[in-house]
Amino acid sequence: MKTIIGNWKMNGSFEEVDSWISRFIRGFDQNYKQLSKCEIAICPPNIMLDYIDGEIINDSLKRLDQEILQKGQKIDDLSADEINDFLIEKRILKLGAQDCHHEESGAYTGDISAKMIKEVGCDYVILGHCERRRNHNESDTVIAKKIKSALENQIIPVICLGESKAVREKKDHLNFLKNQLIKTVPTGAKFSKMIIAYEPIWSIGTGIIPKAKEIAEVANLIKSVCKENFPESVGNLQVLYGGSVSTKNAANILAIPDISGLLVGKASLNPEDFIEICLS
Ligand code: PGA
Repeated sequence: MKTIIGNWKMNGSFEEVDSWISRFIRGFDQNYKQLSKCEIAICPPNIMLDYIDGEIINDSLKRLDQEILQKGQKIDDLSADEINDFLIEKRILKLGAQDCHHEESGAYTGDISAKMIKEVGCDYVILGHCERRRNHNESDTVIAKKIKSALENQIIPVICLGESKAVREKKDHLNFLKNQLIKTVPTGAKFSKMIIAYEPIWSIGTGIIPKAKEIAEVANLIKSVCKENFPESVGNLQVLYGGSVSTKNAANILAIPDISGLLVGKASLNPEDFIEICLS
């Protein structure tokens, strides 16, 4: 199953959120057959998570009502467990945070923990994004601690890796990415699902994407490094590509061997484009 994750970064307002959700639901329903086979998540700013979670739960409840009506049943005919299972199974959009702190609580002004984002309805958290590494001086060691905390709180970390333009030009990217991966994934960690997003820094927000064979080379490297170093996790490994993904290039990227999803920045802000990318 392919996984498409939208990273809204520091964008969006509550007014835009309402419009985004209703347009996303409309687009999803128009393409229900294909999209219900796809794992779709968005990572909006933290402040919007709770609100969006509520809207998506309302959508699932409406779907439950419709299904019950079609079957000629009443809601009272269902047990609490059956209702819960339905809400999980039929949920059309998952949520993720763009970061979390590695401690569960404490004197960390402005931070938010994995436990908190779990409480607010997140299944995912993006960790190690190059904008966090650059703007918040996040090291591989700190990112490894965050991944550990996410896993302890049953959140799937979307682990980002990527080389700079200078590293790529020196043709040192495979070495660089291998090191980044080994240093970032915490030793002995148990993943229910391991998601690694290859996001070359020079591609993010630039409209420039690597050639298909360059992405394939890195996806292959990630798979073999994981197989060698984290054999207990590799069965559930998914490699995503991120960096200037658009409606125009999504299908070609998804056709690359070993790529099973996308991390979409700017293009995820427009629900119609995001749906089109999910359909690619
Ligand atoms: P972009 O961002 O799609 O806007 O290039 C991707 C990302 O930073 O995750």
